[in-house]
Amino acid sequence: MEQTKLAWQYLNGLGDANLVVVSEENVAPLAGQISIKMAAASLNYRDLVVMDGKHGASVQPPLIPLSDGAGHVVAIGAGVTEFNLGDMVCPLFFPNWVAGTPPTDMHSWMLGGPADGVLTEYFTTDASAVIKAPSNLTTTEAACLPCAGLTAWSALTNPTPIRAGETVLILGTGGVALFALAFARAMGAHTIVLTSSDKKIAMLNDLGAQDVVNYKTTPKWSKMIKTMTNGKGVDRVIELGGAETLEQSIRAVRVGGTVVTIGNVTGSLATIPLPLMLTRYINLQAVSVGHKQAFAEMNRAIELNKIKPVIDRVFPFEKAPEAFAYLRAAGHFGKVCVAID
Ligand SMILES: NC(=O)c1ccc[n+]([C@@H]2O[C@H](COP(=O)([O-])OP(=O)(O)OC[C@H]3O[C@@H](n4cnc5c(N)ncnc54)[C@H](OP(=O)(O)O)[C@@H]3O)[C@@H](O)[C@H]2O)c1
Repeated sequence: MEQTKLAWQYLNGLGDANLVVVSEENVAPLAGQISIKMAAASLNYRDLVVMDGKHGASVQPPLIPLSDGAGHVVAIGAGVTEFNLGDMVCPLFFPNWVAGTPPTDMHSWMLGGPADGVLTEYFTTDASAVIKAPSNLTTTEAACLPCAGLTAWSALTNPTPIRAGETVLILGTGGVALFALAFARAMGAHTIVLTSSDKKIAMLNDLGAQDVVNYKTTPKWSKMIKTMTNGKGVDRVIELGGAETLEQSIRAVRVGGTVVTIGNVTGSLATIPLPLMLTRYINLQAVSVGHKQAFAEMNRAIELNKIKPVIDRVFPFEKAPEAFAYLRAAGHFGKVCVAID
């Protein structure tokens, strides 16, 4: 291991103007820890919220951004038996959520804010807060899993796993959405995807989406979804929009169906038509990324089904701020990544 490491850090404040490269001491792993030489990181919508200082008072500089990354184990502390030097691994988004219900303090430890993230050459952490990556992926592909991949997996497996033949409605073509498309297809679901771009329709069909609806040209899309499903509605909605989409998502789901509330790209204060929800027995299921056990299950599914994350663009480490600007421009299809090594 090197004596020092380079990392991007919000140094004197949050915001893009405060994101600078720093050189820090590279600490060796203590007992129970491992050190990872990071190879790649990926961005999530949340990283823009952190950059803008809107992720709550606990997220403060100095802070190394980004939760999602992958690399190789380069040093192992005393007592660690589950990893070998050279293993390809991903740090967990919630380092202390292993399985079951979430620990009450899980938000104190989220990578990329409040805890330091992975946009760094080396990352040292508890071995329990790391998982081996699927063997069929490159490090850049594996770097897309910890938040985006696992959130999509959790949305399709909670409160119950999707069953073959069910219909899943997916909002948008961002990181979580395209993972949801891949996983839903592997589970044998019929998929309908919403996008703002006609250009993306062929790309979505190539990924196996059976139906695509343009939510800009069809603003009352819930009616069209009902028509497409013979008046029944979909079994599950992967609800990433929030304020402007939740009501329509509730209208688009079948009696007894599930709307998995995940995101708020259109705003945070949504209207819920309670009579429609209550009388039709709609299940609203919140998802917050997921735990380590679910990550392991997802990795098995990725390997068995040879699933590959959709990567839009990879920026070099020294141009990481451009990756943030590119994500903010919102023209991407899938994941925006940073190559670190
Ligand atoms: N709860 C959790 O655990 C969790 C985990 C991860 C992410 N999230 C949240 O989930 C959301 C998506 O995250 P992400 O990282 O996947 O974002 P992203 O990659 O930036 O993707 C956002 C996508 O949203 C789509 N979109 C925008 N307005 C829309 C609308 N009115 N209707 C339907 N789709 C719309 C766009 O698709 P088109 O370009 O095709 O129009 C865009 O590509 C964010 O709010 C994020 O904070 C939550």
